[in-house]
Amino acid sequence: MLNEIKFREQLQFAYQKLEELDQTKSEFISIASHQLRTPLTAIKGYLSMVIEGSYGKMPEKAGGALKNMYASNERLIKLVNDLLSISRIEAGRMEMNWGQGNVEEIAKSVMEELEIKAREKNIKLILEKSGASLPQIRLDSEKIRNVILNLIDNAIRYTNRGSIKTKLGVENNKLKVRIADTGEGMTKDELDKLFESFSRGGAGNKLWTEGTGLGLYIAKQFVKMHKGDIWAESEGRDKGSTFYIELPL
Ligand SMILES: Nc1ncnc2c1ncn2[C@@H]1O[C@H](COP(=O)(O)OP(=O)(O)OP(=O)(O)O)[C@@H](O)[C@H]1O
Ligand SMILES: [Mg+2]
Repeated sequence: MLNEIKFREQLQFAYQKLEELDQTKSEFISIASHQLRTPLTAIKGYLSMVIEGSYGKMPEKAGGALKNMYASNERLIKLVNDLLSISRIEAGRMEMNWGQGNVEEIAKSVMEELEIKAREKNIKLILEKSGASLPQIRLDSEKIRNVILNLIDNAIRYTNRGSIKTKLGVENNKLKVRIADTGEGMTKDELDKLFESFSRGGAGNKLWTEGTGLGLYIAKQFVKMHKGDIWAESEGRDKGSTFYIELPL
């Protein structure tokens, strides 16, 4: 009996230590990310001015190198933002900026942002609406924008030909977003782990090795904060993928 009590005390002590360590880890990521964001934003600003010619005309060769630097810097900014989101989610410190928002406007602005990327791959971005105008809903528009951006960004990355169709509508008293691509598709195994953190699939390893596997994990957390649902379907490799989001009206 005495031994058992002692064992339990030790276990509790170990657990407490682990929790403290976990807290320290989250704080470290949060601080490190904040410190990284400022210089990365400065680099982005200066680079875009150099590219635009604000400091004089650049030789053509240098122009290409500068664009690569800009793209790498953008990747770093996405990574740092993702890590910051994760540390906030895990610490339960993600702040919500609630307001009334229009998902159609959000989807349009995401498509504008990704238009060039899609055109470079010769992929068509299509927006469809079922029914009349969509109702405004209560949401954190930056987070929902991030979710839709991640889904369409994935669809472009993991599709080599065809189109990406985004469909908006109201079903069963919920606002539904459906994003269907004609790309790599996913196996049943991949579908099972899709929304876990740092989970990367066959398409990721094949078409974009630089990804971190955080996009969908964060998207799921953001949708959960809206009491909504997110899931994916695919008939298998090379059969395309369809992602769904449902948000309460
Ligand atoms: N539309 C899609 N078609 C096929 N596979 C997909 C699609 N979307 C996601 N996946 C698979 O799911 C994995 C996880 O996606 P997720 O967006 O979470 O991470 P990622 O794209 O690998 O990296 P990042 O965090 O930088 O976005 C991808 O690596 C890819 O294999
Ligand atoms: Mg992604």
